[in-house]
Amino acid sequence: MRVAMIGTGYVGLVSGACFADFGHTVTCVDKDARKIEALQAGHIPIFEPGLDRLVETNVREKRLDFTTELTGPVGEADAVFIAVGTPSRRGDGHADLSYVYNSAREIAAAVSGFTVVVTKSTVPVGTGDEVERIIRETRPDADVAVVSNPEFLREGAAIRDFKHPDRIVIGTTDERARQVMTDLYRPLYLNQAPLLFTQRGTAELIKYAANAFLATKITFINELADLCEKVGGDVQEVARGIGLDNRIGAKFLHAGPGYGGSCFPKDTLALIKTAQDHEAPLRIVETVVAVNDQRKRAMARKVASALGGNVRDKTIAVLGLTFKPNTDDMRDAPSIPLVTAFNDMGAKVRAYDPAGMEQAKRDLDGLVTFCGNAYECAEGADALVIVTEWEQFRALDLHRLRSVMNRPVVVDLRNIYRADEMERAGFTYSGIGRAPAEA
Ligand SMILES: NC(=O)c1ccc[n+]([C@@H]2O[C@H](COP(=O)([O-])OP(=O)(O)OC[C@H]3O[C@@H](n4cnc5c(N)ncnc54)[C@H](O)[C@@H]3O)[C@@H](O)[C@H]2O)c1
Repeated sequence: MRVAMIGTGYVGLVSGACFADFGHTVTCVDKDARKIEALQAGHIPIFEPGLDRLVETNVREKRLDFTTELTGPVGEADAVFIAVGTPSRRGDGHADLSYVYNSAREIAAAVSGFTVVVTKSTVPVGTGDEVERIIRETRPDADVAVVSNPEFLREGAAIRDFKHPDRIVIGTTDERARQVMTDLYRPLYLNQAPLLFTQRGTAELIKYAANAFLATKITFINELADLCEKVGGDVQEVARGIGLDNRIGAKFLHAGPGYGGSCFPKDTLALIKTAQDHEAPLRIVETVVAVNDQRKRAMARKVASALGGNVRDKTIAVLGLTFKPNTDDMRDAPSIPLVTAFNDMGAKVRAYDPAGMEQAKRDLDGLVTFCGNAYECAEGADALVIVTEWEQFRALDLHRLRSVMNRPVVVDLRNIYRADEMERAGFTYSGIGRAPAEA
């Protein structure tokens, strides 16, 4: 099959490379000429484990290439995927669909023969109808079926997620489109990943419902963590105790500084807006968003209180800036409001992240001193705050760390250390949702 992938970001590049690896012939298209030039020169513009090898192999096998020119690849394609961004619209929080609709217009002008146009971007219910309307208006003679195929991959584990999905959701009632989608995903289907065929609008809703549910789970355990701190419980044991119940499940029950990232914040907001527009408000999700927003500054206050309440002129070392490990993605990372709050409180902030510093410079320039590693970051610090649970932060040399810090205070917003080992190493330590050790 021939595939054109419109948008070569985290989703487009990973999906394109994986489809090529299945044996399809894929052209990834992007408007960003620098990104395409980098890819043509063999440089991967994002940090995603394993992606460089996957891209290199498939380029070498001539199943994958990159271009800024949409017309040729779309004209030849059996399936055209729309994988452009759908950020929050400034001002009202609705999904900004302008990139999706612009690409629909360009695709319409370029299709030839029967073509399946697949929306992989996360889009509100009804977007597929509008994409279809745009294509029919631009090219009344076009023979297209518009399908929704939301993507569930997670950054940091994107290739594995794409190749071993829990399910593949396909929204279409068109028989020919169903056949094309089945052929595209055949290798996964043979691996027993269920293909879930449904109506287009339902597929669009499934993606938002999944993200809103996961955001709710995280926020639920975060609030329970606060309660644990007040009443003397251990949120990790609560999470384990409820997570072993199959009806609940153990995942997404790690208390932390609040969810962030390129998806949950914008997708929960967009879903809330859709629901309000249809007079079916999702009040649970509205509360989740509000609770999560407040949590970021609450975490800054938590750090301040570990330093006696006042951080003016104190130095805070931040370990981890990306919204999660194994990505360089800084979109809506909790570190941003956290660092901003430290600055507001008059603290000096030093920071280190294994992959995200280039991206972070855009958001945090002037607010932090960027450092070369964890120990350099900790130099002279009055408190060390673990914000992202990168693997390399899990086994720090505690003695070395302590020797370079001004005060041995650690606030672990990801609970990657045990209180007793930190205290043995001479630190004043606090995690999330774990009451201080009993005297
Ligand atoms: N990042 C994730 O983990 C993830 C997971 C699941 C779903 N999604 C969804 O997938 C979509 C894409 O997300 P992303 O993180 O890959 O975005 P991204 O910003 O990394 O990439 C989008 C790319 O589209 C390009 N683009 C925009 N308009 C274009 C056009 N008309 N023609 C060609 N290229 C164009 C941009 O230049 C950019 O490179 C979003 O809707 C997102 O919600 C993302």
